[in-house]
Amino acid sequence: MPHDLTVIVLAAGGGTRMKSKTMKVLHEVGGRSMIGHVLNAAMATEPARVVAVVGVQREQVGAHIQGIVPDVVLAVQEEQLGTGHAVRVAMAAVAQTSGTVVVATGDTPLLTGDSLRDFVAEHRASQAAVSILSGVVDDPFGLGRVLRNEEGDVLAIVEEKDASDAQREIREINSGILAFDAAFLTEALPRIGNDNAKGEYYLTDAIGLARVDGLTVGAHPIDDVMQTEGVNDRAQLARIGAELNRRIVTAWMRAGVSVMDPATTWVDADVVLGQDVTLLPGTQLLGATVVGEDAVIGPDTTLKDCEVGAGARVVRTHGELAVVGDQADVGPFSYLRPGTRLGVRGKIGAFVETKNADIGDGAKVPHLSYVGDAEIGEGTNIGAGTIFANYDGVAKHRTRIGRHAKTGSNTTFVAPVEVGDGAGTGAGTVVRRDVAPGALAVSAGPQREIEGWATRRRPGTDQATAAERALAESPPADDPATDD
Ligand code: UD1
Ligand code: MG
Repeated sequence: MPHDLTVIVLAAGGGTRMKSKTMKVLHEVGGRSMIGHVLNAAMATEPARVVAVVGVQREQVGAHIQGIVPDVVLAVQEEQLGTGHAVRVAMAAVAQTSGTVVVATGDTPLLTGDSLRDFVAEHRASQAAVSILSGVVDDPFGLGRVLRNEEGDVLAIVEEKDASDAQREIREINSGILAFDAAFLTEALPRIGNDNAKGEYYLTDAIGLARVDGLTVGAHPIDDVMQTEGVNDRAQLARIGAELNRRIVTAWMRAGVSVMDPATTWVDADVVLGQDVTLLPGTQLLGATVVGEDAVIGPDTTLKDCEVGAGARVVRTHGELAVVGDQADVGPFSYLRPGTRLGVRGKIGAFVETKNADIGDGAKVPHLSYVGDAEIGEGTNIGAGTIFANYDGVAKHRTRIGRHAKTGSNTTFVAPVEVGDGAGTGAGTVVRRDVAPGALAVSAGPQREIEGWATRRRPGTDQATAAERALAESPPADDPATDD
């Protein structure tokens, strides 16, 4: 069967109630723009073409849509004269006269591809000129009401502002998603006028016109009515965002992921989780993050566009564009910046910041360090408090440390510098020159002591008093001045 289906997504209106510099449909929930979710659902129907009607901020909105559906047809509606006018602009851009046309709006992020596909199938099976995806809601305020006769046949949609008091009692509403026979739509659009309470061309008038023509009209109530809820302001965005998250987290639990506290666990729509992953409270997995099986993430961890290997453990960590190997151990209090790669069974420990750092299999950076623009070979251990000084004030340079090296606490590697396999550094070393394999680098000189310094230079202070008391109680044994 030819699948001549066009999906029109309306996105020309400004969304003024968002009170935002950003167009409403570009606001994000679940890691995607609202219109991104709708386009995703639209693509699931395998349409022959997608038309997006843009108007306000058309450059930004158009470019964003093209980023998601590269072959989208963009139709520009100069003035927002109503949904009927918007669809007329869209149809002029494609001149389609057969098959099916579905109209959706760009602000319903909970809409799924399954629901849209089912609706298109129902519309086609009914051979209706126009079908409404309707819904029964508790509070229909502001929405178009579906009018039916005693037999239950759909007669028309009446908008809130044009409805009588009796019609306002109707709780079956138009979701805003409609399916049309293309030939009927083409000939109906020019007949739609704007003689109504809002002075707009209402697409919904097409239903009444189909009835006048004696054509079949249908309304299919969706069970899960939240899927068609349009977002108008930021409070609604947060509520729908929380609902989307609840749905995503529930789906992952059903797929074999343990989530200790679903209410404080946030998982974006494009995240992928393996079987037996455990998510602890306060975890946010964002963007295109992928977590391998048996990994444990959290508590209090945010990972954006990260890849975590199977069986890894990531505790109280903030990470972006980082890769954590299988069985590796990260945190608590680690900051993984873009370009971090930690090998299999590697460790990045407490108060460690990493960036463009390739840390090999089994290598460890356990405590209080900054690792930037570095390669650390397998099995190497980096001492506590180590700094990879990668920036000379003008340019960034790399540090390369070989395999199975053991570097001392508080080492500073001044890049560019290389340390060979099996080499080491003493505590407090400032490494400015390459270190040969197996060598130990030490840069600090012998320790010097200036005796009596506190008493001479800080007389009368707590420091001097403490020193004097200690010296009086037990004078240094090898000091000849205190011998009898
Ligand atoms: C519309 C429906 C109403 C339905 C409701 C569901 C009409 C006349 N009414 O009402 O029956 O219950 O949606 O949310 O269709 N748009 C354009 N160009 C325009 C006008 C609107 O692109 O000229 C876009 C808007 O950006 C928005 C969508 O179409 O995404 C709906 O328009 P809006 O004005 O919000 O219609 P509603 O009054 O909500
Ligand atoms: Mg609206």
